[in-house]
Amino acid sequence: MQKSDLRNLSLARSEAAAAGREAAAPLHVAIIMDGNGRWATARGLARVAGHRRGAAAVRRTVEAALKLGIGTLTLYAFSSDNWQRPAPEVSALMRLFHEYLRKETAECVERGIRIAVIGRRDRLAPALRREIETAERATAHGRALLLRIAVDYSARDAILRAAARLKPAREATREEFSRRLAGAIHSPACPNVDLLIRTGGEQRLSDFLLWESAYAELYFSPRMWPDFEAADFEAALDAFHSRQRRFGAVLEAAAG
Ligand code: FPP
Repeated sequence: MQKSDLRNLSLARSEAAAAGREAAAPLHVAIIMDGNGRWATARGLARVAGHRRGAAAVRRTVEAALKLGIGTLTLYAFSSDNWQRPAPEVSALMRLFHEYLRKETAECVERGIRIAVIGRRDRLAPALRREIETAERATAHGRALLLRIAVDYSARDAILRAAARLKPAREATREEFSRRLAGAIHSPACPNVDLLIRTGGEQRLSDFLLWESAYAELYFSPRMWPDFEAADFEAALDAFHSRQRRFGAVLEAAAG
């Protein structure tokens, strides 16, 4: 076995050991907020109305995450592939992100929520970039919850960028690579994803946190995102806590 394999094995073991403490360790929950468009269409409304209601669901979910003692909440707000949507929908989404940051930052400071926007910044409008920087700076000392909002995010692009920054002919450990990856998406350090929720009834990952979700528990909810309530979040957490996480190892009792 090579040295790097040993290091990776020991990392897997420490993740497995951490699983034993999962009740105590603050969780990283990631959510693919899907179903805004279908929610609106089913009511004879424009898709943008679904996104607006989706923003209200974001507020409820952040509130629930605080109450439930979640450590990190990562929300998939706009994928790099979403640029292909009609221009008015893209503009409406960008306006919603801007408005969210402008309206919520003060309360986040008060409640100890640290905001970090992950993803590429170079294709965002300068005014939105400035709002992101203001929100991140103002909330940087928050310790109650790390709220990461993924905008112009692609896991594969982030992995490519992190890999391109590796020194040639030098092996990186998983920890090192994880740090590079976080840097590539403007994120403060945070644990890997424990629970990944997708609403809207589809069951796929859509290029979201592929590296960080290597051992995430997946939970698919038929609920459209605008209808997602605290009770749905709690149901997902209940399902998570009923699962046995082994990280590729064998539980002690079974190992005999
Ligand atoms: C996917 O649903 C959702 C999006 C691409 C946008 C998510 C945005 C929000 C929830 C609005 C506000 C966000 C923040 C952070 C303030 P879809 O439109 O693909 O739904 P569909 O599959 O039903 O068409």
